[in-house]
Amino acid sequence: MYKDLEGNTAIITGASSGIGRAMALRFGREKMNVVINYRSGKQEVNSIVQEIEQSGGQAIGVYGDVTREEDVKKLVAAAHEHFGSLDVMVNNAGIENEVPSEDLTLEDWRKVLDVNLTGAFLGCREAIDYMLEHGIKGRIINVSSVHEMIPWPHFVHYAASKGGIKMMTETLALEFAPKGIRVNSLGPGAIDTPINAAKFSDPAAKASVEALIPLGYIGKPEEIAAAAAWLASSESSYVTGITLFADGGMTKYPAFQGGHG
Ligand code: NAI
Repeated sequence: MYKDLEGNTAIITGASSGIGRAMALRFGREKMNVVINYRSGKQEVNSIVQEIEQSGGQAIGVYGDVTREEDVKKLVAAAHEHFGSLDVMVNNAGIENEVPSEDLTLEDWRKVLDVNLTGAFLGCREAIDYMLEHGIKGRIINVSSVHEMIPWPHFVHYAASKGGIKMMTETLALEFAPKGIRVNSLGPGAIDTPINAAKFSDPAAKASVEALIPLGYIGKPEEIAAAAAWLASSESSYVTGITLFADGGMTKYPAFQGGHG
């Protein structure tokens, strides 16, 4: 637990499930105020709010589509109205779909870039604008992926969106460091969440993913939430512009394990 996070206010986008949900619950245990953005899963959000309140934090659920400018503005306004501040912005909402690149429609390309990259940009812009206006040395966490680094055939739109997140994070980190605003990315490896539900329900597909992970297992959402809490806290005060990979070693060329190559 990080004492300095107590009473801080965070927005987490796409937080009704998976990694976002785990981050919301973790921030609740840190006794933070959490704006839980969701596009679907209202019931789930209600139970996350309850759990956060039971663990000593405060929370509200706010519906919104991160690709819509006015919805993202509403998230920041909700943080201000309900909790009087915005200290931590987590741009987590993301989607993917598998399509061989020669068949990828412009519509699918745009949809993924819109949610994963433009949505995160809007979150960064609105949060930074608020933090500058209120003199807050805030923290921005963009949820990227190992695929900002590892090419991923059949997911060119997803990989391009996460590669874009990397440069956006680095650029904003440089731009706003003089104001004390830290901007970092968090790069999960293969994590057990709804985005992977179909794949991991097939034992062969699951085993083929596990073979790519030096630590040997699919990560838990709570392990990503722990990394997010550290990035949000002052324990990472000298860290800006990085991608913190929480990936069980997936980005470390596992094919070379055992001296191959
Ligand atoms: P998830 O599918 O449970 O979470 C994604 C969330 O984003 C969902 O709650 C969904 O409703 C929300 N969302 C989608 N479009 C939205 C929009 N337009 N506006 C607001 N919310 C929207 O999957 P997961 O795994 O928790 O994904 C969270 C983030 O982690 C994503 O950015 C994903 O790319 C990233 N990630 C996940 C990995 C994994 O293995 N699960 C690996 C690397 C990155």
